[in-house]
Amino acid sequence: MSFRTSLLIARGLAALALVSGLLAAPAFANEGGAVDHAPINMGDKASLQRGARTFANYCQNCHSAQYLRYSKLTEIGLSEDEIKSNLMFASEKIGDTMTVALDKAEAKQWFGVVPPDLSVEARVRGADWLYTYLRTFYKDPSRPTGWNNLAYPNVGMPHVLYELQGVQKLEEVKPAAEAGEGKGEGEKKEAGTEHHKKLVLAVPGKMTALEYDQFTADLVNYLVWMAEPARATRVQIGVLVIFFLTLTFFLMLALKKEFWKDIH
Ligand code: HEC
Repeated sequence: MSFRTSLLIARGLAALALVSGLLAAPAFANEGGAVDHAPINMGDKASLQRGARTFANYCQNCHSAQYLRYSKLTEIGLSEDEIKSNLMFASEKIGDTMTVALDKAEAKQWFGVVPPDLSVEARVRGADWLYTYLRTFYKDPSRPTGWNNLAYPNVGMPHVLYELQGVQKLEEVKPAAEAGEGKGEGEKKEAGTEHHKKLVLAVPGKMTALEYDQFTADLVNYLVWMAEPARATRVQIGVLVIFFLTLTFFLMLALKKEFWKDIH
């Protein structure tokens, strides 16, 4: 192989690396400490459907998803009848977007801030942050709502799922006492101190910890799908594009060799 050819291959590979790097780029800058990995799978339609139901029942009282139409939910395998009877208010039409009846001024009074639209929330925060957020609410009497959150300190949202998860408390764990303990979930190291803080379940909820994890994973799965329903298609197209670029590269290389073979 001549020097020129290897140079060409090297350049081609570098270009490919750059393109695939760009495709994989969006990583999210999360504020605050560590986050847990969200075990989600966008190909799992049953999980997406469970998430959609949870969103309609527990989140949409306060949060809209105004960039999504109900009719889009047929793409996760729900029929129009199922959508109408399970997920919509009687007054809405299947082509409507997911708005919210909540009065903005009142909400501001209750929570200090208007609950944001969640259509593209997963693209802002990322799945892992959302999964952590929904699992790390804890009782905090110093807050107006009575709740605080490890992923979002001093959050204005109350823990709307506490009946399911139960009530967690944040407890100080002294370094000595903690020696033999494993790494409990939600355990966070406080910057600058030797103390650990750890979430403990003070009052059990209707679900076990495992069930609640699965429940929130379904919800996060749905939030991620909602933020970009075309994602599956986009990823498929991306893979195809890379495949054809690679193919073209080798075709061009062969062609170039053919052209130059009499000269060398
Ligand atoms: C009782 C009203 C209410 C309900 C119900 C509710 N939220 Fe919230 N939520 C709020 C408010 C208020 C905020 C703004 C908190 C802040 O910024 O301090 C918020 C903030 C959030 C945020 C953070 C937004 C950001 O700043 O990035 C997420 C994520 C979120 N809610 C998800 C959910 C999910 C998922 C559900 C359903 C399980 C839900 N919420 C149900 C009131 C509510």
